[in-house]
Amino acid sequence: MRDAEVSRNLLDWYDVHARDLPWRIGPAARVSGVRPDPYAVWLSEVMLQQTTVAAVRDYFHRFTARWPDVTALAAAEDAQVMGEWAGLGYYARARNLLKCARAVARDHGGRFPDTREGLLALPGIGPYTAAAIAAIAFDRPETVVDGNVERVMARLFAVETPLPTAKPDLTALAARLTPAERPGCHAQAVMDLGATICTPRSPACGICPVMAACAGRARGIAADLPRKLPK
Ligand code: ADE
Repeated sequence: MRDAEVSRNLLDWYDVHARDLPWRIGPAARVSGVRPDPYAVWLSEVMLQQTTVAAVRDYFHRFTARWPDVTALAAAEDAQVMGEWAGLGYYARARNLLKCARAVARDHGGRFPDTREGLLALPGIGPYTAAAIAAIAFDRPETVVDGNVERVMARLFAVETPLPTAKPDLTALAARLTPAERPGCHAQAVMDLGATICTPRSPACGICPVMAACAGRARGIAADLPRKLPK
């Protein structure tokens, strides 16, 4: 199976099986060119760092109900935002969230920059978050690499080099699979695959949309990948 075919299978799978998450747009909107709200994408990506989707849902709803856009959040008081964040942990994220909201409101007229480079210049937005927002909100062909994506790539291409040494190789493989069309959906497809099928333990290879292309499965080592250096 060639790269383009793998990416096609992932997108076809995503169109049917995408997780229904509050910051995403629906299946019909996805294929019609409607874009998700960059504010919602940004907020969800910051919340999802070191926190599970299950834990983030309610917080996301409360934040967006109270502050429906970045300008509203920028005008909030620090204590209000810290109060809504309470329980999510890693409080530096909340402080950076406010810094970023205020920078977008003040320096960008309340609109998020629509490129990875522009996003990266904002406070609290690192390489992962910049790539995720550029891809998901603006459909830029950026490659988004988190732990899920590293695992999927290690298995698909049977990368036996342990983490973290393998990181650059896994990133390059993920970039190779990023398609020119609908890169934002592709990024989320790989993350959803990692979260629901290509799971750390007992991956559900039997229902995987890219099973036929998976070198890890062909060699019977998928569940053992990625390898990790002993701590
Ligand atoms: N984890 C982090 N960001 C995500 C996203 N946009 N979709 C699914 N899982 C994620």
